[in-house]
Amino acid sequence: MSTVPAATIAPARHVRGRVRVPGDKSISHRYALAAALADGQSRVTNFAPGADCRSTLACLRQLGIEIDEHASGAMTLLGRGMGRLGSPAEPLDAGNSGTTMRLLAGLLAAHGFVSRLVGDASLSRRPMRRVIAPLERMGCRIEATEGHAPLTIYGAPLHGIIHRADVPSAQVKSAVLLAGLHADGSTTVVEPAQTRDHTERALAAFGAGVTAEGMTVTVAGKQALAAQRLSVPGDFSSAAFWMVAAAALPGSRIEIEEVGLNPTRTALVGVLQRFGARVHVEITGSEAGEPRGTIVVEGDRTDAIEISPEEVPGLIDELPAIAALASHGGEVSVRGAAELRVKESDRIATLVAGFRGLGISADERPDGFVVGGPSTGTGPRSAGSSRRAPLSGGAADACGDHRMAMAFAIAALAGRSPSRILGADSVAISYPSFFETLDRLVA
Ligand code: S3P
Repeated sequence: MSTVPAATIAPARHVRGRVRVPGDKSISHRYALAAALADGQSRVTNFAPGADCRSTLACLRQLGIEIDEHASGAMTLLGRGMGRLGSPAEPLDAGNSGTTMRLLAGLLAAHGFVSRLVGDASLSRRPMRRVIAPLERMGCRIEATEGHAPLTIYGAPLHGIIHRADVPSAQVKSAVLLAGLHADGSTTVVEPAQTRDHTERALAAFGAGVTAEGMTVTVAGKQALAAQRLSVPGDFSSAAFWMVAAAALPGSRIEIEEVGLNPTRTALVGVLQRFGARVHVEITGSEAGEPRGTIVVEGDRTDAIEISPEEVPGLIDELPAIAALASHGGEVSVRGAAELRVKESDRIATLVAGFRGLGISADERPDGFVVGGPSTGTGPRSAGSSRRAPLSGGAADACGDHRMAMAFAIAALAGRSPSRILGADSVAISYPSFFETLDRLVA
């Protein structure tokens, strides 16, 4: 399907070294949006370098926000104050970024102008009714094509609502809370499961009152935000690929510094421990309510692991990486993850086709997958009772999906021969320097 540049991954015995991962993508989007709504100039360091967060910055510039990127890597954003974004002359392009489109929709809903949000082919296939419905209940109107982008948003004065979400989604929660900040009265989101809470923490850091109790979050309307100086921690979801590589290849040791350790993001740590890896986590500080620290992972043995439906919301972006745990003779089975079908690609279909292409057994379920598993191959024996074959090597197509490209690359390290990853350039969405770092860690 993809004809874009491919990467060749040679087999590696292990991965070793110390690494810093790029700034967290989810947190960067939120700091940029909050800074745009704040009064005064905010300064953000270690902002995520990938294309997704560039899409948010480009849209904010079109909405009249002055953004300066300094040689030091710091960025300043001059906020216009709550409800004061400028009417854009052209459509706003969210590119490949669901977070950009859904969170911006929440802001635009409250502005008294008409705006149009567009995205690339992948984003235009992703479900938008989940944000359109609550935002329209708050008082705006949004036109879409059968629930998909492009979105035309007719902003209007909003009123608070109680939104009971039927899918766990931090993007939907965030869109409604950002709209709620501009609304009359208070706005409450009740989630079916805990999702990442970066919006709640960011709004509090910018001075807004936000209350969270269990899975219920409330913001009062008509609050002002105050400009801040912030630094973004490393992205745990990017670190996940090195953590999995170290866990899957016995004899590995990877140390990741200054990485975000927000507990709504770190469920992978427990998964790797269950798999048989040694994982040590140390919190070294916290800024703007976001803890950060160091993670050390040492590969020890490979085991079978099952991910249950209740675990999925806390692991949603890590599931492609987790599948790569099977590459050296483990087995990974996931249920309750139908949401993977509406990510940057249908991640269940992409993953199963890709792993088969790399020479390891993989099967689709409607809501998950199984990778690896018993075979009569001659690969190393796992710690479990059955004999499992490691991956042979081959070719996998990431279908333009950054997390799939990285998951396939990590899996391919365990191959018996070199592998080709098609669509490898999609790593630019969240981790532009991924392959350079990989080269260093396998050397
Ligand atoms: C994100 C939320 C998740 C996640 C995505 C980033 C966010 O999406 O998969 O990569 O920054 O809020 P959903 O809200 O669709 O689950």
